[in-house]
Amino acid sequence: MALSVKHLLGINELTEKDIDLIFATADNFKQVLKRDIKKVPALRDTTVANIFFENSTRTRLSFELAEKRLGADVVNFSASGSSVSKGETLIDTVNNILAMKVDMVVMRHSASGAPWFLSQNIDACVINAGDGINQHPTQALLDAFSIREKLGSVKGRRVAIIGDIMHSRVALSNIYCLTKLGAEVVVAGPPTLIPKHIASLGVRVEYDIRKALEWCEVANVLRIQLERMHKPLFSTLREYATYYGINKKLLDGISNDIVVMHPGPINRGVELNSDVADGERSVILQQVENGVAIRMAVIYLLSGKRDPSIQSARPAHLQ
Ligand code: CP
Repeated sequence: MALSVKHLLGINELTEKDIDLIFATADNFKQVLKRDIKKVPALRDTTVANIFFENSTRTRLSFELAEKRLGADVVNFSASGSSVSKGETLIDTVNNILAMKVDMVVMRHSASGAPWFLSQNIDACVINAGDGINQHPTQALLDAFSIREKLGSVKGRRVAIIGDIMHSRVALSNIYCLTKLGAEVVVAGPPTLIPKHIASLGVRVEYDIRKALEWCEVANVLRIQLERMHKPLFSTLREYATYYGINKKLLDGISNDIVVMHPGPINRGVELNSDVADGERSVILQQVENGVAIRMAVIYLLSGKRDPSIQSARPAHLQ
């Protein structure tokens, strides 16, 4: 059983069966990660380059750990401190890395579409680790996997994606992933941070945060991305926190039990207060933990390698 894609560029390119296969494979890798020796030798003849043209903590470490847990050789590249500052082009940079016999490239870039451009110009497999305001496919997969783990399923679940939808690659990938898996999705936030035609993606728009929270089972709270706002889209952070910030007092006043998620990094006291981020409703660190298993699954499946011990543990319908 293999994925229907050669690269992972965006969730919209995956089928529901692809996502099921990634989840079933990640289930197996979660078991591996609970062992004393948290490694399998499946990719011991594979070299992966992590090339990050934009800052990252979670995604970069998670990919590196996933690759090492699979036994791959890993090289890391950051644009800062590299020859990019001397004017080297993206293709020249990547071709020089590939000349060192690299099989797979994990890429983060501030330009939307950069991983797609790369996939058209090199032979190696490309995995998108976040491109501009476009997509962050492995984040959406780990988010949906975490919902499935916490609530038993994704199908039919009511998920609110709250905050800066306009500038969020996490929002777009989550919308594609959750709707593909049969969840109901509401996007909520100030009108200036919600794209005008977003309802065409099969989601409902809600500007009243309390109403969104009263409706949902899962609230995925997104970071306010000030670095991508080139003009003011709300008055002050304090005003944003007052009208759209999620805090314990607000959630305590709502009758339903809500699972709170955030992809990180968190602006504490703005979109999410510490009394929720560190509270019992939060699964934020479980999301990070699941990220390693999900990325192991994506890398393993895209590598085309077949390890019988990983394969045989899959449910029969995915064999
Ligand atoms: N969630 C996420 O992409 O975090 P980083 O920017 O730290 O990788």
